[in-house]
Amino acid sequence: MKVVACYSMKGGVGKTATAVNLSYWAASQGLRTLLIDLDAQGASSFYFRVKPGRKKWGKRFFQAYENVLEQIRASDFEGLDVLPAHLSFRNFDALLASLEKRKSRLRRILKGLKGEYDLIVLDCPPTISHLSESVFNAADMVLVPVIPTTLSQRTFEQLLAFFAEKGYAREVVVPFFSMVQRQKALHKSTMTHMRQRHKGFLQAVIPFARDIENMGEHRAPVAVFAARKPATKAYLAMFDELWPSLRPKGKKR
Ligand SMILES: Nc1ncnc2c1ncn2[C@@H]1O[C@H](COP(=O)(O)OP(=O)(O)O)[C@@H](O)[C@H]1O
Ligand SMILES: [Mg+2]
Repeated sequence: MKVVACYSMKGGVGKTATAVNLSYWAASQGLRTLLIDLDAQGASSFYFRVKPGRKKWGKRFFQAYENVLEQIRASDFEGLDVLPAHLSFRNFDALLASLEKRKSRLRRILKGLKGEYDLIVLDCPPTISHLSESVFNAADMVLVPVIPTTLSQRTFEQLLAFFAEKGYAREVVVPFFSMVQRQKALHKSTMTHMRQRHKGFLQAVIPFARDIENMGEHRAPVAVFAARKPATKAYLAMFDELWPSLRPKGKKR
């Protein structure tokens, strides 16, 4: 089982759009996939039309994997389950602050789901916090959307500095360019510059696309309502590029 976190400390950069579309492709290509919506705002749960139960259960999240298992819902897509965010998830930081072994908590919970899934995708809230540290400890890959602007470059470099300071492996961080407008000179030059400066950027690039904005109306991954469009192809290209790292042993597509 592999764990991929869609993470950035910036909001509105495409974490949720990526988590949703990547989970969709993973499931449709035969990986038993679970999308965990860690962001209390619940955007990826919304896109997959999955509602959380009424009970405030956030406090029980880090206690035992059975608590998490109980809250998992099926999506409309075969092979894809969703753990919807509950509003009580907004207290995860305070909660983790009060727990022992907080850094390894999430990893231990996810380990309990190992038999059920080939891939777990984490849709993360835009913070750098106790929760993000639990995420960094649990993830095999931290997938970071970077809008090619100067400010986003700075945020990305802050994340790398944080990784270095805390001793996390740099290789786990996999950045990619998000919301790219190729007609913009700044986007083009920033992409060239950042590819030279930082290793590991995916070749796959997610364009700025009306179809991705429209996911909210359709409440579905782009492949469902814009099958032949560039946005759909871009997420599939991303999945293809990640496939060698995500592939369960011996599995063919
Ligand atoms: N590649 C894109 N092109 C156009 N709009 C996008 C793209 N990616 C995301 N969006 C839109 O931008 C907003 C923020 O995206 P989202 O994925 O929710 O970001 P995050 O999870 O990082 O906060 C949403 O309204 C979404 O529809
Ligand atoms: Mg989000």
